[in-house]
Amino acid sequence: MIGNDIVDLAKAKKDSNWQRRGFLDKLFTAAEQELILSAENPEAMVWTLWSRKEAAYKIYNRQSGERFFNPKRFVCEGDEVIFGTNHYYTETQISPDFIYTIAVTSRDKFEAIQHLESRDAVHKKNGIPNWFDFIEGKLHPASITHHGRFARIAYLKKIENQFSFL
Ligand SMILES: CC(C)(COP(=O)(O)OP(=O)(O)OC[C@H]1O[C@@H](n2cnc3c(N)ncnc32)[C@H](O)[C@@H]1OP(=O)(O)O)[C@@H](O)C(=O)NCCC(=O)NCCS
Repeated sequence: MIGNDIVDLAKAKKDSNWQRRGFLDKLFTAAEQELILSAENPEAMVWTLWSRKEAAYKIYNRQSGERFFNPKRFVCEGDEVIFGTNHYYTETQISPDFIYTIAVTSRDKFEAIQHLESRDAVHKKNGIPNWFDFIEGKLHPASITHHGRFARIAYLKKIENQFSFL
């Protein structure tokens, strides 16, 4: 499975003051807050951790059908995001303008990630996107993200076993 999340750093700066009292405590565990406060670029670390949590949440949402807001329960450790017994693996691209994370359910799936330019063949079921490959005649799990000036649509090339999250 796949989840992605992008943060437009200019928009994030305008919309959210991460230094506001209570902001970090609401979203991040004590260990994550330490990581932020000791980082060379604390702001980039805030949005890196946030985008990783959001990307992992999108996978959990697909797996469970549940929607909720509980960022502190998605715990960033190394390149993983852990939610209960679920482990998600993340890769984050950090640039001066945006931070982009892709999460997958196992490391081998990083090789299967593809991006789309258009959402023409993306269909949503219960709000969750899949990309229809006309050549194969198959649906692939997809994830959409947009924020400010940036957007990404990613999908997994290989069809996953429906029980792969167990
Ligand atoms: C649903 C949520 C993740 C969307 O994130 P966002 O940063 O507001 O917006 P994004 O652009 O990144 O994502 C929205 C897109 O995600 C897509 N999407 C929704 N559920 C998805 C899922 N389970 N998997 C993949 N993509 C999904 C939608 O297609 C939507 O785009 P569209 O409406 O244009 O088609 C977010 O609003 C939310 O509810 N978060 C709360 C959950 C939480 O606790 N987060 C903290 C970390 S756990």
